[in-house]
Order: sequence, then C-alpha cells, then structure tokens
Amino acid sequence: MTQTTLTGDIQEISRLISEAGIAQSLQNIAGTYPGQVVFSTSFSWEDQAISHIIFSENLDIQVFTLDTGRMFPETYSTWSRTLEKYNYPITAFYPDSLSLQQFIEQKGPNSFYESVENRKQCCHIRKVEPLQRALKGKKVWITGIRSEHSPNRQDMQQLEWDGSNNIVKYHPILHWTTDETIAFINKNEIPYNPLHDKGFVSIGCAPCTRAIRPGEDFRAGRWWWEDASKKECGLHVHEEVKN
Ligand code: ADX
Ligand code: SF4
Repeated sequence: MTQTTLTGDIQEISRLISEAGIAQSLQNIAGTYPGQVVFSTSFSWEDQAISHIIFSENLDIQVFTLDTGRMFPETYSTWSRTLEKYNYPITAFYPDSLSLQQFIEQKGPNSFYESVENRKQCCHIRKVEPLQRALKGKKVWITGIRSEHSPNRQDMQQLEWDGSNNIVKYHPILHWTTDETIAFINKNEIPYNPLHDKGFVSIGCAPCTRAIRPGEDFRAGRWWWEDASKKECGLHVHEEVKN
C-alpha cells in the first residue's frame, strides 16, 4: 500500500469519527466498510464497554477473541456471561495446533518464565499468528486500548496505521479514565471480569498476569519477571501515528 493510500484511508476514517460519540462513530465506520470492521476483545472492562455498544446498537462489526488456551477461568466465565446477556456471536481464533504442539514438546508448557525469547515465541504462537488470521482482508481494527495503560500508550492517537497487519487501528476509548470506564460498566450493568475487583487491572493469560498493589503501574502485573521495556506481546506494534 502506498503512503498516499494509507494517509487517504486514515483521513477518510477520521472524518467518520463523530463528535456525536463513540456509538455514532462506530456506526459510521461500520456503514462505510461493511464486513470489513472487526473488534478484538480480551473481555477486560474496556473491551466489555465497547462490546456493549456494538451489541446493543447491532453494529456490523465482527467481534473476535484470541483464545490462547491459558486464560483465567474468570475470563472464560465473563465470555459466557456476555453471550448469555447479548446473544450475539463472538468468534474465537485459536493457535495453530501443530506449531503449539512442537513448541510445547521442545520447551515444555511454562517455558515463558525461562527467557524473553521463549515468552515472545509463546505469545507469537498463541496470539500474534491467530491475530494475523483474524485481521486478514479487513480494513479497520477496533481495540480497547487506553492511554492510561502504559507510558508508551500515552502518546498514541485514536487512529494509527498497523503496517505489520496492513490495517487501520481505531482506539475509541483511548482517552477514557479508569473511573469513566467503571462508571460506564456500572451504569449499563455490563458483565465484567470479577478479577478486576481483586486488584487485576490489565488481564492477559493466567500464568503471565498477577494483581497489582495500589499505585503500581497498570502493567506491573503483566510478565512481572521481565524488564519493563520488554512488556509487549506483539499484538500492538506501535508504528506510525496519524490523526
Ligand atoms: S496486550 O498487548 O498487553 O496483550 P492488552 O491486554 O493491553 O494487550 O489489551 C489491549 C487490547 O488488545 C484489548 O483492548 C483488545 O482489543 C486486544 N486484546 C488483548 N488481548 C486479546 C485477546 N486475547 N483477544 C482479543 N483481543 C485482545
Ligand atoms: Fe504465552 Fe504468557 Fe504470552 Fe499467554 S501471555 S501467550 S501464556 S507467554
């Protein structure tokens, strides 16, 4: 894709983002790119807020999750409660079984604790490669990223280009605060992951996530045994920022 097309896509989508609010913006984008807009959910409270908007407005946006096979039981029960409440499909993408089988055979089930290389390999097999399949042929990828999540998300814009997946990313609640997110969840009686009430802020796979203490960085509970600079799993490669 050329730079001109890329800028054109971002500009066109930025025109669809309405001051009338997130629901209207999502509707404008979904209406302009039918069948080509997807939303990834990890069932965090951010993602549950966005799912609520998509499902209650019946928007033409495919909701998908990357089921790594290592998620918390509470995450799976949040997924079930979401299906019960909204009766709307959520597509699950799974790791390639042969790649996973070979990786576990060679390195064992918990090799991510042994090196950053092993951890990244596990994230690649369980998340990044399935994500590539989920995004193939799509135009816009919606996420629940918030700038409060981590220092390197603070300079992000609501629209960005993801060159590794050839897709425009839209982060509709990037600027929501934690209080705003919780208020939205409570006001709309949205089912949420009960781990959020136990000190878990950013929730990923069970062996790689733990609760944080008040005042600790939001992502301190993710891959806590690694250097702070390495704490991204490869889903979100921060490349080019435009608005
Ligand atoms: S991560 O890069 O550390 O794993 P994070 O947990 O902050 O991501 O979540 C940011 C956004 O990435 C979520 O709002 C969601 O859109 C997407 N995401 C993260 N994990 C998953 C998953 N397992 N399945 C689908 N989407 C996910
Ligand atoms: Fe594997 Fe942990 Fe990454 Fe999940 S977060 S894919 S268990 S390394």
